Amino acid sequence: MRSKIAGVGYYVPETVVKNADLELLMDTSDAWIQERTGIQERRYGKAHAETTTTMGARAAEIAIQRAGITKEEVDFIIFATLSPDYFFPGCGVLLQRELKITSLEAPALDIRNQCSGFIYGLSIADQFIKSGQYKNILLVGAEMHSMGLDFSSRGRNVTVIFGDGAGAVVVQPTESEGILNTVLHSDGTYAEELAFINPGCHGGYHLGKEAFGYTDQNYGGIFLTEKMWNEQMIFPTMNGPLVFKTAVVKFQEVILEALNKAGLQAEDIDLLIPHQANLRISQFIQQKLNLRNDQVWNNIQKYGNTTAATIPIALGEAWEAGKIKEGDLICMAAFGSGFTWGSVLLRW
Ligand code: COA
Repeated sequence: MRSKIAGVGYYVPETVVKNADLELLMDTSDAWIQERTGIQERRYGKAHAETTTTMGARAAEIAIQRAGITKEEVDFIIFATLSPDYFFPGCGVLLQRELKITSLEAPALDIRNQCSGFIYGLSIADQFIKSGQYKNILLVGAEMHSMGLDFSSRGRNVTVIFGDGAGAVVVQPTESEGILNTVLHSDGTYAEELAFINPGCHGGYHLGKEAFGYTDQNYGGIFLTEKMWNEQMIFPTMNGPLVFKTAVVKFQEVILEALNKAGLQAEDIDLLIPHQANLRISQFIQQKLNLRNDQVWNNIQKYGNTTAATIPIALGEAWEAGKIKEGDLICMAAFGSGFTWGSVLLRW
């Protein structure tokens, strides 16, 4: 028994935010952003009207319809995001409620693997299909970054990169090749190099309690300290150059690992869908693997980095554009916070 992607859908919010719009909020420029990242614009969800869950639900409805099933047939939900509606419960159950998928009381699993979330989710779905436990797994990757970014100049290296959006797939059993293999990796050594640390339950354990304003008196039950709030330590931060340098190596390694396991070469890939972290990273990998432009799908120019949503959005766009045909060898790969990284190789 193998598994296949039976339907794919995506949703991006209406509001387009151009680089020039960000120039009005922080010390940055369209030229800098385009030159360093390739990004021209991104989408932001409508505050108070949209959330990570609602965007995920819109993408899921399309994937479910394209898979030719009803919502009630979904027997397992996997939701990948780093920007959940609530700290808990996770977006999986919120999506289940939003879509009214309650007939089977199907389990909902939330995964926290940031940019690799969709790849990790697809690997989990693949194992559950292969084991025969589930038959219609709904996997969603969605993000509402715009609600949690630092729009002052201090946050510019992170904020200009990220955008909102959602993508979803339905994974089903197949008699044909389908998913050939999945490869997952992580290395927690660099956990804080790309992270959203506060508020949180760390109590200063990893980086020293003074750094976050904890004292022996207030320690215990303090989730958000005055220092975190007053010094605006409540946004994601990134060591961009380190992430970049590591990403270009790990992307390549993990793609080649998946190809080697399947006895295939880079030249056999019909379409590579890299996680959209930075156009320069994608171009570097393309060059290293010696792939033509028509073998790689990039859309970061329009959407920025939508983290767990980038791969299913790109997959959905490529499918709609007729770039994915039956029998094509598709490779998807991601790298991100954790660090975590992984790849999926499949025959469409
Ligand atoms: N606008 C203008 N200037 C900016 C800026 C912005 N948005 N962000 C950073 N800068 C400045 C820095 O302050 C620095 O200035 P300085 O030289 O005066 O100190 C200069 O640009 C260079 O910063 P640096 O961080 O070294 O730039 P970079 O070439 O590495 O590009 C990234 C920054 C973030 C685009 C790049 O590091 C990157 O893409 N990293 C990987 C990101 C990624 O993949 N993240 C997601 C993982 S899933």
